[in-house]
Amino acid sequence: MAKIRSTAFFCSECGYESSKWAGQCPACHAWNTMVEEPTAPKTAGAGARRATPLRGAAAPVCLKDVPADSEERFTTGSEELDRVLGGGTVAGSMVLVGGDPGIGKSTILLQICRNYAKNGKKVLYISGEESLRQIRMRAERIGEMEDDLRFLCETNLDLIRGVMEKDRPDVAVIDSIQTMFSENVSAAPGSVSQVRESTNVLLQLAKGEGITIFIIGHVTKDGQVAGPRVLEHMVDTVLYFEGEKNVSYRILRAVKNRFGSTNEIGVFEMTEQGLREVPNPSEYMLEGRPVGASGAVVACSVEGSRPILLEIQALVTETAFGIARRTAAGMDFNRVNLLMAVLEKRCRIPLSHYDAYINIAGGIRMNEPAMDLAVVMAIVSSYKDIPVGEETVLFGEVGLSGEVRSVSMAEYRVREAAKLGFTRCVLPGSCISRIHIPEGIRCVGVSSVSEAIRELFG
Ligand code: TYD
Ligand code: MG
Repeated sequence: MAKIRSTAFFCSECGYESSKWAGQCPACHAWNTMVEEPTAPKTAGAGARRATPLRGAAAPVCLKDVPADSEERFTTGSEELDRVLGGGTVAGSMVLVGGDPGIGKSTILLQICRNYAKNGKKVLYISGEESLRQIRMRAERIGEMEDDLRFLCETNLDLIRGVMEKDRPDVAVIDSIQTMFSENVSAAPGSVSQVRESTNVLLQLAKGEGITIFIIGHVTKDGQVAGPRVLEHMVDTVLYFEGEKNVSYRILRAVKNRFGSTNEIGVFEMTEQGLREVPNPSEYMLEGRPVGASGAVVACSVEGSRPILLEIQALVTETAFGIARRTAAGMDFNRVNLLMAVLEKRCRIPLSHYDAYINIAGGIRMNEPAMDLAVVMAIVSSYKDIPVGEETVLFGEVGLSGEVRSVSMAEYRVREAAKLGFTRCVLPGSCISRIHIPEGIRCVGVSSVSEAIRELFG
């Protein structure tokens, strides 16, 4: 009789399953992430995979027969977070909060839970990572906790499910899906099959009982523990917490949202008393900007629905060795190379013998093409060693022929710059006719990189 295989190889990055081991995952191309794990028994997963409980026979319906009332939303008590979620939390939804260990995921969820409890919601916080004493110590830093906020230290999902079905909380938090396990699967907690099965159990609870569930997932480095990407496709909303260890602000970014737009970001600052909202990130990002320095320019980028002013820094120096060195921190390295090639070919600036280091001040990461013009001008400013005036903001996409192309939401960007006291804005010429220019700011439209260089450096 043929032997039935009971193990398979899973990619701990993306969850790709294969019967053979490989050094590189064929799906996400990550190296050394394939690990051998027992496969989940078919019977355990089949029932759990249904998002809604079985109610009678299956029958298709017309959309117009579906009740039109919009989904019930309630506030998280934090304006930044509400915006990222698309206007509050939707009852019965599943939200995945991913991020590096120690970035502040437990802290922000504890704060949200406190707000929910204040608003009369019944909240259950399930921690598989910390003891009740540790949670209490953290809670004391954040401030007073409501009575309606209950805690449970448990990792067995079958027990957790029992508690949830009996207690019926409105909101539940699972502090790290990687510590949870279901007895149906023999693999260790944190393995791909275990993480998937655990999420299935939670999905059933969320949709069946109408409980809003927040799942914390650590972004992992070594590949032995499954990362949050494995469950991205199962949840309604995916938020990632970004930030550097040595800067105090954190950015919460919506990567997927079934109930709102993606690309929305929320900015927070880590303080002694937990996370605090930063309502005006532009001011925060431009704090301590150098005055009269060459190579530093201010760009305006739009994330989701809100413009943010950023300082872009470039340092261009002659190469000491044969091959020029380039680095880009906070933006796409290839994009920087492309922009330098445009400068070389279209503006005849000989950059091939120059090292270039590009950086977005403050450690923030942005990939919007509207920052191209500012990146190019920062490089030129450093190359010529002539500062661009502090009162200037730039935005615009640069094309391969050296043209400056229009970008979306130009008026928002100009308004944000005017609000922060900037008096000159260099933007794509094609945008200028479409916008209403606010008072106190002079808008200069340019159609090519050379024109922008003439405008800024004479
Ligand atoms: P934590 O929420 O435990 O991170 P995660 O759950 O993502 O692993 O955050 C831990 C870090 O936050 C830790 O380095 C201490 C810091 N912190 C503060 O600076 N202020 C505070 O009020 C709290 C609660 C934590
Ligand atoms: Mg934690």
